Amino acid sequence: MRAPTEAFTYRYTHYGDADVLKRHLHPLPTPGPGEVLVEVISTAINHMDAFLRNGKEDTWRDDPWPRASGCDLAGIVRAVGPGVTRFRVGADVVGHTRTGAHASHVVLPEAQLVPKPRGLEWEVAGGLFLAGATALETLDDLRIGASDTVVISAAAGGVGSIEAQIAKHRGARVIGTCGARNFDYLRQLGIIPVSYDDGMAERIRRAAGRPVTAYIDNYGKDGRQVAEALGVPAERYRSSADRREVELRLLRDDPESVAQATSVLQKVVDLAGAGAFRLLVSGLYPIDDIVDAFEDLAKLHARGKIVLATRPVTRVRTLRAREVFERMP
Ligand SMILES: NC(=O)c1ccc[n+]([C@@H]2O[C@H](COP(=O)([O-])OP(=O)(O)OC[C@H]3O[C@@H](n4cnc5c(N)ncnc54)[C@H](OP(=O)(O)O)[C@@H]3O)[C@@H](O)[C@H]2O)c1
Repeated sequence: MRAPTEAFTYRYTHYGDADVLKRHLHPLPTPGPGEVLVEVISTAINHMDAFLRNGKEDTWRDDPWPRASGCDLAGIVRAVGPGVTRFRVGADVVGHTRTGAHASHVVLPEAQLVPKPRGLEWEVAGGLFLAGATALETLDDLRIGASDTVVISAAAGGVGSIEAQIAKHRGARVIGTCGARNFDYLRQLGIIPVSYDDGMAERIRRAAGRPVTAYIDNYGKDGRQVAEALGVPAERYRSSADRREVELRLLRDDPESVAQATSVLQKVVDLAGAGAFRLLVSGLYPIDDIVDAFEDLAKLHARGKIVLATRPVTRVRTLRAREVFERMP
């Protein structure tokens, strides 16, 4: 097979909904010193990608236009620049970048890549970075361990499902808030499901059967009041705003932040490779259906992660359990 000479990147020229994303064809980029050309096999979508694209998140408002999309990726090294020591052509890698992962190829400093374990599926590897690193940073910040009884909101979603499983793996008792549809999913992971409807604090108290020692609010609604009602110490509560800070830190491109993000990514990959958690990919979309994928994410009922693939075998979509459930009277 001849090596491709063209690549594509999903870009946008102004803030807006997912349909501002356009496929931009360009020559295959060449890696410079210390850089690697990666052919992207899988790349996830995150709420933060959407917030950066629609302007809700304006931390990098001075970035030039057009802007590229996407921060999680897994792929294969196709070329290396001078001075690259850690990766060879043909290596399978997992990487992170503030923007540009929603593409067929991306050039990155080798410092933004870690090796992909052979046993880790491509769609899982491409979904690990922002959700996994946010989950791990939050658990480490709270020093969640075996003596904890922790509540995690949106526990069936991208970040929550990883957070809950790693907390469980550390020996904590984990209560996860979710909709009724996800009770069985969380139970299968050893997590105690509690509905997020009104009266949640009382239901959590009953399910916990002991004092709740930490509370992580991914969703960003009522969390502080519920945590206070449960008597969780203020220093062991993390809000959705705290989560935003963690995500922004993971996306910064100064060398210190990049090194930290890569080190956390390596830990997440190691945990996934060792089976400490299983990332459920509930939507695997061909990358050219990126608008549909973002619209799916925006419904706020994803289970696990939504991932884009550059080499899909089919564009025919089967009905998912969620859709069957939603159609039930
Ligand atoms: N503050 C920030 O900057 C920031 C950054 C990123 C994400 N977020 C927010 O964090 C949330 C979760 O992120 P994610 O990446 O894990 O999202 P995700 O994969 O889209 O997951 C969404 C999850 O939210 C749950 N959910 C829906 N309505 C809920 C409610 N009223 N109360 C509690 N949970 C509810 C859903 O559970 P069921 O399907 O079981 O109903 C689903 O599992 C999203 O709402 C997102 O907008 C905030």
